[in-house]
Amino acid sequence: MGAEPAAMTPPGAPLGAPGAASSRALLEVEDLEVTYGRSRAVEGISLSVGEGEVVGIVGPNGAGKSSTLRAIMGAVRRSGGQVTLRGKALAPGRPENIARLGVAMVPEGRHLFASMTVKENLELGRLARRRDRRPRFDDGEVAELFPVAEEFRDQRAGLLSGGQQQQVAIARALLADPDLLLLDEPSLGLSPTAVAAVFSALAHIHELGVSILLVEQRAEMTLEFCSRSYVLVGGRIRFEADRSTPIQTVIDSYFGADPSARSELRR
Ligand SMILES: Nc1ncnc2c1ncn2[C@@H]1O[C@H](COP(=O)(O)OP(=O)(O)OP(=O)(O)O)[C@@H](O)[C@H]1O
Ligand SMILES: [Mg+2]
Repeated sequence: MGAEPAAMTPPGAPLGAPGAASSRALLEVEDLEVTYGRSRAVEGISLSVGEGEVVGIVGPNGAGKSSTLRAIMGAVRRSGGQVTLRGKALAPGRPENIARLGVAMVPEGRHLFASMTVKENLELGRLARRRDRRPRFDDGEVAELFPVAEEFRDQRAGLLSGGQQQQVAIARALLADPDLLLLDEPSLGLSPTAVAAVFSALAHIHELGVSILLVEQRAEMTLEFCSRSYVLVGGRIRFEADRSTPIQTVIDSYFGADPSARSELRR
């Protein structure tokens, strides 16, 4: 685990610190299954995100975290289960439609267009914006949250550092004006300083009224940041954790009850 950067806990907010969800479910996932050929990556999981809530999914490599987010976004086929947003079923296979209903995803590895400028990458986020309301984020607010987006707007995205690219990727998702932001390992490969900057921006995004579903391998940091976190191992949710859950309980669940598996991994 190692020492985590400080200042991960979001400040108090009009919606309360992350965790002060209303009882109303924004996102509900029921019995979700994702299969690649013969291999089952997600084996019937159910989870929810309340309005204004920040929820985590933690788990080891290959647990099915990305598959879960991609299935919610409609980017991979579900082989079973239901996904609803405010009670309305999200049709699989149409990420652009799901984006227009108010869900944006920051994918694992960021997926910026390296040869396009920062500004051009941000324009792509704006394309998914809904037209039925005034957007929650305009260019000024995004520039305030992510000064790099403004500072390097004419720079090719591929020339930015990993931390700067992650900020641009989140800025691009915000310009789509989501109610729900799905983030897939935003801390991956970043320095502690860059991780702290990303999480501080996420705390502000939450304060501005966006609900968050955060996938991370960094369990300790995620449990601290989110109101609730699902522990996903081997395609199944093992249990729901929160700030009071000892981190060792989470780590133990990664390895199951088999102590020899754990000592193998320690070598
Ligand atoms: N496109 C694919 N084709 C075949 N198998 C896949 C595909 N994507 C993922 N898998 C498999 O599905 C399982 C779950 O993968 P997934 O990427 O969802 O895990 P993850 O929890 O996001 O892992 P990581 O922490 O390494 O990102 C793994 O066994 C993986 O090898
Ligand atoms: Mg993944």
